[in-house]
Amino acid sequence: MEDIRIGVIGHGFMGHEHEKMLMPMEGIRLVGFSDIDADQLLDVQPGLKRYSSNEELIHDPEVKVVLIAANNNQHHDLVIQAARAGKDIICEKPVAMNVEELDDMMKVVDECGVKFTVHHQRRLDQDFRTAKEIYDSRTLGDVYTIKSSLYGFNGNMHDWHVYIAEGGGMLFDWGVHLLDQVLWMMQGAKIVSLYADMRNVINFEVDDYFKILMKFENSIMAEVELGTYYLADKMHDKWFERHWFIGGNKGSAYIDGFEPQGKIVRTSHLLTNVGGKRTMTSAGPTRSFGPPSEGTILTEEIPKVTTRHEDYFENYKRAYFGKEEFMIKIPETRRVLALMEAIRESARTGKSIRFEG
Ligand SMILES: NC(=O)c1ccc[n+]([C@@H]2O[C@H](COP(=O)([O-])OP(=O)(O)OC[C@H]3O[C@@H](n4cnc5c(N)ncnc54)[C@H](O)[C@@H]3O)[C@@H](O)[C@H]2O)c1
Repeated sequence: MEDIRIGVIGHGFMGHEHEKMLMPMEGIRLVGFSDIDADQLLDVQPGLKRYSSNEELIHDPEVKVVLIAANNNQHHDLVIQAARAGKDIICEKPVAMNVEELDDMMKVVDECGVKFTVHHQRRLDQDFRTAKEIYDSRTLGDVYTIKSSLYGFNGNMHDWHVYIAEGGGMLFDWGVHLLDQVLWMMQGAKIVSLYADMRNVINFEVDDYFKILMKFENSIMAEVELGTYYLADKMHDKWFERHWFIGGNKGSAYIDGFEPQGKIVRTSHLLTNVGGKRTMTSAGPTRSFGPPSEGTILTEEIPKVTTRHEDYFENYKRAYFGKEEFMIKIPETRRVLALMEAIRESARTGKSIRFEG
């Protein structure tokens, strides 16, 4: 099988990550980079081309696939240019600024008959895959709630991510991953309604906090919460907290960290109408929230999953030659964009929104 020859537009943060990952990867040949800012090309690895323009990269016959790793507001035009030149395309997330842009891009992609997918590699995050495996196995019985949260402890947002026009804000940056994960986990289940709160806590233009509640037709309430100004002292050498909680009628699971730690927790029998021990809180006693009787709480290890970021491109290689489907399908990314539009609408109006129900 011949190598898939990839040219990358944008040699910033993510462009460098792609360079590191793709250079040694078997079956892929990284051809070179273009960037609107020529200084960004100064440290392109020896042996790779440094194009003087995107057009030069796109029209280079050596390049078969264009990987777009430029700012979010550039994706629309760059995808269309690459498609018109007959190139296959991988685009960074979010694939577009809104559904209308994506539909516009898809017209050209379909006309030109090129392959098109999106780099939503966080479907391979181990914490997420652990949560998904627990959900898929039905080990918790009927799941009623799923919470996915990510908090940053230093308020840090940077560069174009703080400007609306460039596609900044945390909903676009991380929300797109967190929502994609929840939708993919509950494949096939429609969202009936949603309610969202979005804030610019310290940023002037863009959101740096959101809480999203989504009621699915399978009765599950999913909550996705993220804040970058959620200050705490560094914990365990990390400057963030990442958590999942899944609650079902046969147990709960908590999963902490991107390298997941956690437990499945059950009770030895149904503790309905079982008097708990009295315990004191500062202004009063409680039994419901007191300690359980000895031996009633049972824990199990969470499943071990091994996924790697590289698996995204391993899938890409197989899918490129028709051996399987691309991991990320465009209608899935369109659904996430539509959801983000509804989320913004709910946050703007303060009202819950009927979505797919
Ligand atoms: N999948 C992920 O985990 C992940 C992580 C980070 C960023 N991203 C995505 O990658 C993309 C780039 O983000 P980043 O953090 O690397 O930003 P960045 O600012 O570090 O890099 C972007 C680069 O693109 C260049 N650029 C901008 N417009 C261009 C154009 N029209 N033509 C050519 N070059 C252009 C900039 O000069 C810069 O070098 C965004 O879409 C972002 O959402 C994805």
